[in-house]
Amino acid sequence: MKRITVPASKEYEVVIESDFNNLKSEIEKVYSGEKIAVITDSNTSSLFYKTVENRLIGYRLYEITVPYGEKSKNAENYIKILSRLAELEFTRKDCVLSLGGGVVGDLSGFVASTYMRGITYIQCPTTLLACVDSSVGGKTAIDLPQGKNLVGTFYQPSLVYINTSALDSLPKCEIDCGMGEIVKYAFISKEITASDINCGASEDLIKKCVGIKADVVGKDEFDKGVRAILNLGHTIGHAIENLSGYTLSHGLCVAKGIGVIIDLSADFYHLSEEKVNEMKSLLGAMNFDLSIPFTKGEIGKKLFLDKKAERDGINFVLIKDIGDVRVEKLSEDYIRNTFYGDDAFSV
Ligand code: GLY
Repeated sequence: MKRITVPASKEYEVVIESDFNNLKSEIEKVYSGEKIAVITDSNTSSLFYKTVENRLIGYRLYEITVPYGEKSKNAENYIKILSRLAELEFTRKDCVLSLGGGVVGDLSGFVASTYMRGITYIQCPTTLLACVDSSVGGKTAIDLPQGKNLVGTFYQPSLVYINTSALDSLPKCEIDCGMGEIVKYAFISKEITASDINCGASEDLIKKCVGIKADVVGKDEFDKGVRAILNLGHTIGHAIENLSGYTLSHGLCVAKGIGVIIDLSADFYHLSEEKVNEMKSLLGAMNFDLSIPFTKGEIGKKLFLDKKAERDGINFVLIKDIGDVRVEKLSEDYIRNTFYGDDAFSV
C-alpha cells in the first residue's frame, strides 16, 4: 500500500492498493454514516460493482449507473442523479462514491458538491488518466452543449482509493491515454525519468504522478496561479482532439501538444539543440505517434477559440527545462505568424 496526502484546504489521502480489500477500512476512517450511492458507468459497473459491493458489506449501497462515455457528463444526468438521491432520502450525512474514470468522477463530484450544499465524496478511479490526474485535486464538472467542463466546482474528496489491478482490464488505448498525462508530469518535475515511462503504468509511477499533482494542488487549490502548469500540452492538445472529432484520445493529443510546445519553448527561451533533443527524447520514451494530422493553420484557428485566449495573446505552458515549466503569454501576432497556412508540423 502507498499513501499520499493531498495538502488542500481539506486534507485527504490518496491510497494506492492492488485490490479493493481495504476499501471498507479506508472509508471507515473518513465516513461514519451508513448509506453510500455508488455512481458508475455501464462498462465499469459490469467489471467492478459486484466486487465493491462485496467489500462494502455493512453499508446500505445504492448503485446509480450512467451510460459509458463523455456524453454522460451532462446536465440531464446531473439532475437525474440528484433526484435519485432525493428519492432515496439521502441527507447531508450520507456519501457518494464515484467508481469509474474521469467522466464519472467529474459528474459524481459535481453531484456531491451541490447535493444539500455538499456531502461526503469518495473517488475510486478505474482508468489510468483518472488515477494520475482527474481524481486528485477536487475539480468537478459537467459539459454544456457549448463546451466541455463549462459548469463545475472545486470540491475535494474525503478519500481517493486507487486499485491498480482495475487497470489490468483497460484496453491499450486507455493506457496510452493515461500515459499522455504521465509524460506531462515528467516535464513538470524531474522525479519521472524516461526509464520510468518505458516501464509503463506501475504503482510507483502512479504514486510519483499523484505526489506531483498533490504538491501543485497544495500550492494553488483554486487554480489561480501555479496549477495552470498542469495544462502543459493541453491548449494545443485540445485543438487536435477537437479537430479529430474526438477520435484521438485526450492523452495522446496532450503528448502531441507537448511536442509542439517543445518547439515553441526552443524559440521563446532560445534553447540549445542539446536541450531540445533531451526534451524530445523524454517525450519519445512512450513510443507514441507524435505526428499531427492537421495543418498549422487549422490548429491556429482553434487556438483562438480556446477559452484561454485573451485579447492580447494566449497563455501557454512552456518548458524552460525539464522540471521547470512556466506560463508565458505569446502575443496574438506571434501565434498568427506561427500557426498559419497549409504546412504540417515537423515532429
Ligand atoms: N487536470 C488539471 C487540474 O486538475 O488542474
